[in-house]
Amino acid sequence: MTASPRIVDGFGRRFPYLRLSLTDVCNFRCSYCLPDGYKKTSRDNFLSQEEILRLVRAFVALGVWKIRLTGGEPTIRPDFLKIVENIASMPGLRKLAFTTNGYKLPERAQSYYDAGLRAVNISIDSLRAGQFRAITGHDRLDEVLEGVDACFSAGFKQVKINTVLLKGLNEDELDDFIIFVRDKPVSLRFIELMRTGENQEYFGAHHLPGTKVTERLLVHGWRSKLREEGGGPAQEFEHPRSRGTIGLIAPYSKDFCASCNRLRVSVKGDLHLCLFGEGGYSLRNLLQEDNQQQELEDKILSLLNLKKSAHFLHDNNSGTRNHLASIGG
Ligand code: 5AD
Ligand code: SF4
Repeated sequence: MTASPRIVDGFGRRFPYLRLSLTDVCNFRCSYCLPDGYKKTSRDNFLSQEEILRLVRAFVALGVWKIRLTGGEPTIRPDFLKIVENIASMPGLRKLAFTTNGYKLPERAQSYYDAGLRAVNISIDSLRAGQFRAITGHDRLDEVLEGVDACFSAGFKQVKINTVLLKGLNEDELDDFIIFVRDKPVSLRFIELMRTGENQEYFGAHHLPGTKVTERLLVHGWRSKLREEGGGPAQEFEHPRSRGTIGLIAPYSKDFCASCNRLRVSVKGDLHLCLFGEGGYSLRNLLQEDNQQQELEDKILSLLNLKKSAHFLHDNNSGTRNHLASIGG
């Protein structure tokens, strides 16, 4: 099914998919994202449950049918399950997903599913305990791996794994990841490291082009899957003897933006038309009363006209994003 034609930009792209950040806070310290951990800024003034509901109602009315809750680490919010329950029951919404670093996932997976979440993205940047600790600052690889299985047991049909490709850190694990997905019906995505305002030096040292993955996959007999219509920017591969699939998200590749199907809203209520580039446009003053919904929908539609055809990362432009914890990747 297609999204309502109302939510469309000047290049004919539709946006059935909203990524909504529930918090900037994260308890991990991934070396490419928050190497020193989350630093509280002036006053964290995150959207309330009521503001989030109004926001979601407007986007769903405009044709958004998939929402992913992101962070920071979204499950850190004490009212996470309450927010999920409120959104999950909204008519018109067909898929509610979330991204997590896997913290306490084994004991929490069932409560996430029961609250209404149906798809999960789990970050796993290494399958070696020491390397996992070095990258995330947490000795929790076993817990996160158990969490993957717990998600299946809880009822999740769609479990994705995000792995940021890191030269010199996990590049020698590509074959291990390929073996890892052989018996697990997960969709693993290798993500090319993205340059942000705060990781310039790190980017120089650890950026690994996605072609390294493609080469390994082809050597092992993996084949490119046809792009699904309405699918996101991942290029997907499959293998007849593997239950899991492997994808590649390569934001520096040509035409990455042509398949852009998503919008982002930060936890301060700013609409971001692109992960990179320009700052957000605040929607917050239109989230204060239920009777502002029409005005809010009109504002979102008018902002969509400002969306550009592509990002400009190729020009060494990291945009204004300090790190991705403020917008959930
Ligand atoms: N480059 C690529 N991926 C990143 N993420 C966070 N920062 C970056 C970056 N600079 C990813 C995390 C997680 C998702 C939420 O975003 O690894 O999988
Ligand atoms: Fe936290 Fe995700 Fe950033 Fe890691 S990448 S520090 S888990 S927000």
